[in-house]
This record gives sequence, structure tokens and C-alpha cells, in this order.
Amino acid sequence: MSDRSEFDAWAREQLAAVEDCLSRWVPADAPAGLGEAMRYGVLDGGKRLRPLLALAAAHAVGASRVAALRAACAVELIHAYSLVHDDMPCMDNDVLRRGKPTVHVQFGEAQAMLAGDAMQALAFEVLTPESDASMPLALQARLCALLARAAGYSGMAGGQAIDLASVGCPLDEQTLRDMHHRKTGALLRVSVLMGAACGDIDERVRDALAVYGDALGLAFQVVDDVLDVTQDSGVLGKTAGKDVDANKPTYVSLMGLDAAMRHARELRDRAHAALAQSGLADTVWLGRLADKVVERDS
Ligand code: IPE
Ligand code: IPE
Ligand code: MG
Ligand code: MG
Ligand code: MG
Repeated sequence: MSDRSEFDAWAREQLAAVEDCLSRWVPADAPAGLGEAMRYGVLDGGKRLRPLLALAAAHAVGASRVAALRAACAVELIHAYSLVHDDMPCMDNDVLRRGKPTVHVQFGEAQAMLAGDAMQALAFEVLTPESDASMPLALQARLCALLARAAGYSGMAGGQAIDLASVGCPLDEQTLRDMHHRKTGALLRVSVLMGAACGDIDERVRDALAVYGDALGLAFQVVDDVLDVTQDSGVLGKTAGKDVDANKPTYVSLMGLDAAMRHARELRDRAHAALAQSGLADTVWLGRLADKVVERDS
């Protein structure tokens, strides 16, 4: 089997497990139609990059797969909630997500806001099962702390605040990088760190994986900015051309398409170098994921 088809087989297996868990854990019977809106927002869609990163990191450090699956689903719940809110009229005002009408278009603004709120809380419920021998309390606390910090004011939510405050303002590279690290990089980086935290790792491994996650996380948003310009809505499953329309500062508006893609490739190389530094024996899936972040077309 080639490297690529082995990776594809591994990824298919992980994605099926993630889908199965999410489908069991996101409640269909939440009151007053809330469950329907939550399931619509998170099930059956998206590339699931964050869960794959968590599971690939867990694999690389030989961690418990049961715990890693909880970490993977928790990050995806936070990500899916961030998308529901990102699309709302008060933020990016988008009507298409994951190839479907956005949650607020389908269920109304109030229900979309509540679905996002409930998905965020559910992420922490998933990390704190009442009886699961593979999730000792210390691990539950560690994973909750990592995720809370990545999702909150200094991470994703803070980055989204900078994004909205920057409409119409050209940013310098350092400020743009800081915004991207927070709004997108933080959740991608923490996916890796949470997967790794499910195993027994030393500081050298943790630091190398943090560098890998930082580089990959920034590369991911640089490519998101590029695809917004180069790709069409049908392939993206979300509205193309939104950043220019909304006058958002992006890597493309800052440095142009070619330089942005070159930068994304440099970041991918930095991610690979960090894996080599980690001393971990099996980082093949993490390496493939770094490649996919820059090679993707959606
Ligand atoms: C889109 O993320 C939002 C950003 C953080 C750039 P993804 O491109 O990972 O979206 P899905 O999960 O595949 O829909
Ligand atoms: C969103 O960034 C980052 C999030 C925290 C959801 P974008 O606004 O660029 O994401 P898309 O392009 O709508 O997916
Ligand atoms: Mg946005
Ligand atoms: Mg958006
Ligand atoms: Mg975008």
C-alpha cells in the first residue's frame, strides 16, 4: 500500500469513529428543537481536521485512543460552535456552510446562538465523563484547561474579536499573524496538544508538538485566506470571496496570492522540522496532515 492510500485508510477509520461518537453525544432530544440545530451544525460535514490532528498526535505518542476520541470530539464541537457564530449576521453574515444553509438561516438567529452556546458547553461535558477508566480526573482537568484557554479570550474568541475590529483596517504582518494564531491557530494547536496529553509525554515532545501545531495552525488560516480568493463556493461549501467583500485584512490582501502560498509552504516545512525535532518515532500521520493543510482545495 502506498503512503497516501495508507493515510487515506487511517483517516477514513478515524473519521467514522468521530462521526459515531458525535452522533451519540450530541443529543437529538435537547428541548424545543435545540438538539436538531446542534446536530445540523456539527454532524455530517466538514473536513474534521481538528479531530484528525488530535488522533494523529495520540497515535504518535502511543496514547489511549478512548481518551483521544473524547478530546477529538470536544475540539470539533468548539470548532463547529465557532462556525455557527462566525456565520451569524452580526459577524460574517454568511448563508452557506459545509455545503448547506447556515444554522441561523435554517433555524433562526436565536436558535443558532443557543446551539453554539450548547455545543460549547457540551465539549466540556464530553471531556468529563462520570465513569470512564481511561479518563482519570487529572487528565479531564488537563484537557479542559487546554481547551478553555484555546477557545477563550486569549485564543479563538479573542482572535474573532480582533477580526471584527479590523474590518477596513490594513494590518501589518505581525498583527495579522497574531490574529490568525488566535482565531484559527489556537484550536488547531490545542487539537495536537490534547491528543498528546492523552499519553505520557515529556517536555521536549510537548514543545516540539506545540511548534508543529503553531506552524500548521497559521498555515491553515493563510490557505483559508487564499482559497477565499481562488476557489468557488461549490467546492468550498461556503461563500467564496467573502473577505474582499467584507474588506477583511488577510494574508492575500497583505502580501498577494503567490507570496501567501509560499509562506504557507514555509510554515508546512517548519511543521515538518518540528516533528523531526520531537524525537517521536511515528509522526507519519501528523506529517501527512501538515501536507494536506497546504495542498487542500477546500
Ligand atoms: C473554517 O475551518 C474556519 C476556519 C477556522 C478558517 P475549516 O476549513 O476547518 O472548516 P470545516 O470544519 O472543514 O467545515
Ligand atoms: C473563522 O475565520 C475563524 C473561526 C474562529 C470560525 P473565517 O471567518 O475566515 O472562516 P470562514 O472562511 O468563514 O470559514
Ligand atoms: Mg470570520
Ligand atoms: Mg467567516
Ligand atoms: Mg475565511
